[in-house]
Amino acid sequence: MDLLEKCRRFLADPAYAERLGYPMSPRTAEAQGLYPYFIPLEESEGTTVVIGGRRLIMIGSNNYLGLTTDPRVREAAADAVQRYGTSCTGSRFLNGTLALHLELEERLAWYVGKEKALVFATGYQANLGAISALLGRNDVVVCDKENHASIFDGCRLSLGEMRRFKHNDVADLDRVLESCPTTVGRLVVVDGVFSMSGEIAPLGEIVDCCRRHGARLMVDDAHGIGVTGGGRGTSAHCGVTESVDLIMGTFSKSLASVGGFIAGDEAAIHWIQHRARSLIFSASLPPASAAAALAALGILEAEPERVIRVNAIADRVRSSLHDLGFDTGASVTPIVPIVVGDGMETLLMWKNLFEAGVYTNVALPPAVPEGRCLLRTSYMATHTDSQMDEVLRAFAAVGGPGGGA
Ligand SMILES: Cc1ncc(COP(=O)(O)O)c(C=O)c1O
Repeated sequence: MDLLEKCRRFLADPAYAERLGYPMSPRTAEAQGLYPYFIPLEESEGTTVVIGGRRLIMIGSNNYLGLTTDPRVREAAADAVQRYGTSCTGSRFLNGTLALHLELEERLAWYVGKEKALVFATGYQANLGAISALLGRNDVVVCDKENHASIFDGCRLSLGEMRRFKHNDVADLDRVLESCPTTVGRLVVVDGVFSMSGEIAPLGEIVDCCRRHGARLMVDDAHGIGVTGGGRGTSAHCGVTESVDLIMGTFSKSLASVGGFIAGDEAAIHWIQHRARSLIFSASLPPASAAAALAALGILEAEPERVIRVNAIADRVRSSLHDLGFDTGASVTPIVPIVVGDGMETLLMWKNLFEAGVYTNVALPPAVPEGRCLLRTSYMATHTDSQMDEVLRAFAAVGGPGGGA
């Protein structure tokens, strides 16, 4: 059998793509203007982007604080290139650790309320490295079913066993932990803010449950840092920072850069630093990215009003969408999904909004559970009220599934 045969069929045979679970083949979708992925942006000024010569309002990013185009962040990145060059050309382990990485680690640890932090080249690699480094043979990792893919990939890479519990269901977590042997290490991993639904994990109850069972807890707060807890994240929001063993975050959202980190007590971080393969065997975060994240963190600390603003905008849009008859699920953060259900209906709604000048994201399985296809929208501290008026007008005109909200 030819290994590459499936690739050829995926490209040429629409029925094959549908059999793989796609609403239609990527080529058919492209031909019908229904392909919402890999769209090249010609310009981006944060709240708006130019695509095909047209300017659209961007409500499909993770740029929650609107800092990717902030002059202070741009300047910090440019200065770092001047000082250190464009790349470290090696891993943190051997030759790629800069004074800048250490400064960033110190500031992040302090900001999220942990003893130490360790910076990775991406958030994906932080999850991969930290989880696989911590879990030894026979240890058990327990995941919320809707955790981010990078958490599941970290679990797969580890030598431990993975079990799952129902989304945000602490009684089910309790049941799963009860079934785990107490003679092995147990790690519970959850998203602080769920990236598609905009829900928050009930960390207070999860902490109590972990304590009862002697399990450790890691929170992926990629979408919480800069957004919840006054910016310090979901552990701070729930008042449980001390009881959460490990906090993971990324720079690719509020912190206007690329990269990721894991924070915890000194011994845990020291262990991960010497065992995480995605850190040791991959080149380190480039100087410009480290400097941009550091500058963005400084702005986040100095301008907490940005955190208030992004949440206020999302509150307004969420309640207006609700009044228009849209289902925004259980979102309580600047991620506001419009739950459509059917994949094809979701693509059509995306296309109509796109044509009306509004850029959203389409989430289909496996990014969301089967039958829960949605448009993911998210907001920025730098969006203006009049941009939001325009977005709401577009939603009202386009309507919900079937064309009428
Ligand atoms: C919850 C969550 N964790 C981890 C990641 C990975 O982060 P990065 O984009 O920095 O690799 C993402 C990004 O999509 C995410 O949403």
